Amino acid sequence: MHPLQPSPVRFEHLADGLGIGTGTPRLSWTPAPEGGNQQAYELEIRRNGLTCRTGRLTGPDHAFVPWPGEPLTSRERASVRVRTWPTAHREPSPWSEPRAVETGLLDPDDWTAVPVGAGWEEDPAAERRPARVRRDFLTDAKPIAHARLYITAHGLYEAELNGHRVGDEALAPGWTVYHRRLRYRTHDVTSLLVPGANTIGAWLADGWYRGKYGFDGGTRNIYGTDQSLIAQLEITYTDGTATVIATDATWKASVGPILSSGLYEGENFDARLDNPHWATPAAPQDGWTPVRTGSRKTDTLVAPEGPPVRCTEEITPVSITRTPDGRHLLDFGQNLVGRLRVTADGPAGTTLTLRHAEVLQNGELATRPLRDAHSTDTLVLPGNGPYTWEPRFTLHGFRYAEISGWPGQLDPHAVTARVYHTDMRRTGWFECSNPMVNRLHENVLWSMRGNFVDIPTDCPQRDERLGWTGDLQVFAPTAGFLYDCAGMLDSWLTDVGLEQLPDGTIPWYVPVIPGEPMWTPIQPGAAWGDVATLTPWVLYHRFGDLELLGRHYPMARAWVDLVERLAGPDRLWDTGFQLGDWLDPAAPPDDPAAGRTDRYLVATAYFAHSARHLSHAARELGHSSDAIRYSTLAEEITAAFQARYVHKDGRMVSDSPTAYCLAIAFDLLDPSQRRAAGDRLAQLVHQDEARIATGFVGTPLICDALTDTGHLDTAYRLLLQTDCPSWLYPLTMGATTIWERWDSLRPDGTLNPGGMTSFNHYALGAVADWLHRVVGGIEVTAPGATALTFRPRPGGGITWARTRYETPHGTAALFWKSGPNGIEAHITVPPNCTAVADLPGTSPVTVDAGTHILSTANGSRI
Ligand code: BGC
Repeated sequence: MHPLQPSPVRFEHLADGLGIGTGTPRLSWTPAPEGGNQQAYELEIRRNGLTCRTGRLTGPDHAFVPWPGEPLTSRERASVRVRTWPTAHREPSPWSEPRAVETGLLDPDDWTAVPVGAGWEEDPAAERRPARVRRDFLTDAKPIAHARLYITAHGLYEAELNGHRVGDEALAPGWTVYHRRLRYRTHDVTSLLVPGANTIGAWLADGWYRGKYGFDGGTRNIYGTDQSLIAQLEITYTDGTATVIATDATWKASVGPILSSGLYEGENFDARLDNPHWATPAAPQDGWTPVRTGSRKTDTLVAPEGPPVRCTEEITPVSITRTPDGRHLLDFGQNLVGRLRVTADGPAGTTLTLRHAEVLQNGELATRPLRDAHSTDTLVLPGNGPYTWEPRFTLHGFRYAEISGWPGQLDPHAVTARVYHTDMRRTGWFECSNPMVNRLHENVLWSMRGNFVDIPTDCPQRDERLGWTGDLQVFAPTAGFLYDCAGMLDSWLTDVGLEQLPDGTIPWYVPVIPGEPMWTPIQPGAAWGDVATLTPWVLYHRFGDLELLGRHYPMARAWVDLVERLAGPDRLWDTGFQLGDWLDPAAPPDDPAAGRTDRYLVATAYFAHSARHLSHAARELGHSSDAIRYSTLAEEITAAFQARYVHKDGRMVSDSPTAYCLAIAFDLLDPSQRRAAGDRLAQLVHQDEARIATGFVGTPLICDALTDTGHLDTAYRLLLQTDCPSWLYPLTMGATTIWERWDSLRPDGTLNPGGMTSFNHYALGAVADWLHRVVGGIEVTAPGATALTFRPRPGGGITWARTRYETPHGTAALFWKSGPNGIEAHITVPPNCTAVADLPGTSPVTVDAGTHILSTANGSRI
């Protein structure tokens, strides 16, 4: 690649522009790191055989640049490229590689497809066998220019065309508030069509739509009783004519080899019933009966904003042990989310049973934490040679698997764990000289991967797997560094807005499902509801998408307005139910909300924090009267908070670490109180011998609260503690993901007796954000990462750290190592952003785009 060539253009938050849901996709590219800042750019768009160029446009813009031409129409394709003029060159850069964008079905009337599914009688109250649907068709005897499949389902689907799988995504169409928004995907299927006879077919499953989901055994038919495919295959010939094969009454349905499938339950598959050619014209017709057709409002069909769920990695077992009764116990060495692919050979009718668990107890799978999620797959072998199978419509959270019924010796290569999650672009990396801290960071990464599965979930293994708002709220700053999660979270936030109650209440988890646990009927709750204000802001800060901020602004404002009403004129939110500092280690296992911090202190602190962020958002969006109104409100809440919860000397009424964390990190104290509060927080940490004493609310804040009040050493002491409870304690027990509870596995090796004991919950891993900013030293200081501060603060005996962050403008990197007289820092600054190097013991200096080596030994550049 030429050193000045910019990256290919991205469309909205998508790298792949096929099937985009807008005719005016905004364009982003990354300027080349060489040559300094981008001073000007030119876009070229080719559509309908015509090429248009914008001409040279002066400016540094390269993120979310408005579509420069006439809006694209439905199904229209264009090819886009960009070139730039970097400061140091008079000549433009070479053009970027062209990227194609193609709109999906933009007009609801473009859809002729109707939902089709099993035509036979089904009992909605019972387990129903999944259907497959298919249709044979002929293509016209003339050359095909291109073919697209627009596809979605009530339930889950996997499509095949002439026996070939279409696409590679899993659990499509993902989970949205289906009755309001159902996502369809667009596939280019040109190469799968053949002249003459063709067959399209799809496997279906219940998924979130009508599967049994949620607490206490789950609820069936959450969104409807039908399981249906909605698909439209559009074949365009070179002469401009088109054939449309849409789901309608001409399709046929039948059952296939999947006997049952559930997201929690697992899948049962009888390979004796499998005919790999079932979706080809040669397949037998018997057993296929007319479909039932349904209806769907086509204006609820939307294109995706983010990438789909895919298999991103395959892992082979690190050990296989055989139990005396002939079962095989497999350890994959990593707690992960996915499913097994097996290749087995045995007599017809041999049944393999695959069970999954995150931990072992007494050498057996510990399945109690799964509660009612059985996570069991079964495969019945066909008996005609080696058979390879992987379940299609389920996922499990596991490190260990038990396989019973395996015929003969189990060859380790015959079983692979396939890891699935939303296939986001990785953007952040961190490592340092302390291997345990590195493993902690890996665990955070794995917990993010395991729980960013179309929506951000609390956990991936038990009968929950819900979009808990508080968990994501505290983790979003970490997530936004590690991966480009803007598209996925933008989509989910849209659903949060759709599920918001008319009075502004944000549900505890989104999408909402019936049958909530009794402690959480929908009601406003601090830290959870604040996802409405804080998360759009975090995404804007990281990715610079002002439109995204604006889209979610009404939801954010309705939330703050609600809390304002609930708090009343004294500005203290001190009524109603709160989860408080959830999972404070001092709370009893069966009452995680009963932490040591006053729940209303938490609520009022968050109220102030949200009001302040809403005012920032209003300012960015140009809503100036709102900006003033909410910053005044934030001041008033801060004053009320101080009067109610803070003594003059900075001691707090709730003398708990989380109370101090909130007051310091949310800037709720005056300077003298702040100093005293920091000292008291450090004292409390030392009193507890640096064992952690915070839950979901305090944990993400405590290292910053200590660092910002001059107690960096205490922050490191806390980070590096290995006794229970602490961040590193789980590592001493072999953890490879972040646990829900500080002691999900207790020091004596037994499971925590609490009803919620997950080994894969990202919330407490929010400390990684501090690792990136303070240990690693890269901090975003202006929206869109247009300003960065390189401010490493070494400590804890860590002698070097290496951090890399792909900003919208390119790579920011910092490697520092300590020497006898200070540290040496290698800093990479991307173009088009202002950067400050603020190294310990030296005055901050401005650094330009490019790579710099600075040393604190003599305070100068090397
Ligand atoms: C979830 C949490 C969630 C909490 C709140 C739990 O069951 O797993 O992570 O935030 O409930 O009640």
